[in-house]
Amino acid sequence: MKNILSKRLNAVATLIKKDKIVADVGTDHASLPIFLVKEGRAKKVYASDINKGPLKIAKNNISAANLNEKIDVFLSDGLKNVPKDAEEIAIAGMGGRLISEIIDAAPFTKSEKVGLILQPMSDSVTLRKYLYENGYEIVKEFAFEDAKHLYSVLRVEYKGECISPTEVMCRVGRLLDNFGEFERAYIEREIGKCEKKIEGLKTSGKETDEIDKEIIVKNELEKILRSREI
Ligand SMILES: C[S@@+](CC[C@H](N)C(=O)[O-])C[C@H]1O[C@@H](n2cnc3c(N)ncnc32)[C@H](O)[C@@H]1O
Repeated sequence: MKNILSKRLNAVATLIKKDKIVADVGTDHASLPIFLVKEGRAKKVYASDINKGPLKIAKNNISAANLNEKIDVFLSDGLKNVPKDAEEIAIAGMGGRLISEIIDAAPFTKSEKVGLILQPMSDSVTLRKYLYENGYEIVKEFAFEDAKHLYSVLRVEYKGECISPTEVMCRVGRLLDNFGEFERAYIEREIGKCEKKIEGLKTSGKETDEIDKEIIVKNELEKILRSREI
């Protein structure tokens, strides 16, 4: 069986350290675990999912690829049943809030030996806020496009330093470290969200405080983009 990863899962794979024990939480069809093992990039992989349906498909795909020895498949709500020797943990294709809840319910991720590779489909601001406030550091992040959708993927490690992030930090994360066309497009989209929110607040006659806050964020994001113009 040929296993071609989507651009999105490929982006996740690039942030997973090689030769480690990897867990893929919410594995669905087990595309990522199969890819990692076939490419010789993981020592062992745990593939878990909360739902029986996806897990059945995952098992079929793993058997078809003859990889039953290398990939352990099991039912798990988040990281609850995932063995604690997992060193690299991928949580992709879910909302940022759910991802933060999964991390929060698994204190063993508060270890410098664990790397988290997170790819939120929404609520990225909530996820980054949770990470900053709970001692997790975003060590790498980049934006990319897949099927005309714009995403970001984060590599996160626990450092134990809890900080109160600014709104701009939560919107941008570490995207400025490797600034390119997709990072620019991502921040432009954030500016668009600010504009929409400001409009919405104005038409609903909401408090000016909230509007002012959003205008400040928008201005800061625009300033960031201007400072990176060639
Ligand atoms: C949209 S799919 C993403 C699949 C794959 N990770 C990807 O990025 O393409 C989300 C998967 O997460 C699973 N899921 C949702 N909540 C979960 C949880 N709390 N713990 C484990 N898996 C979960 C769903 O059953 C589904 O298979």
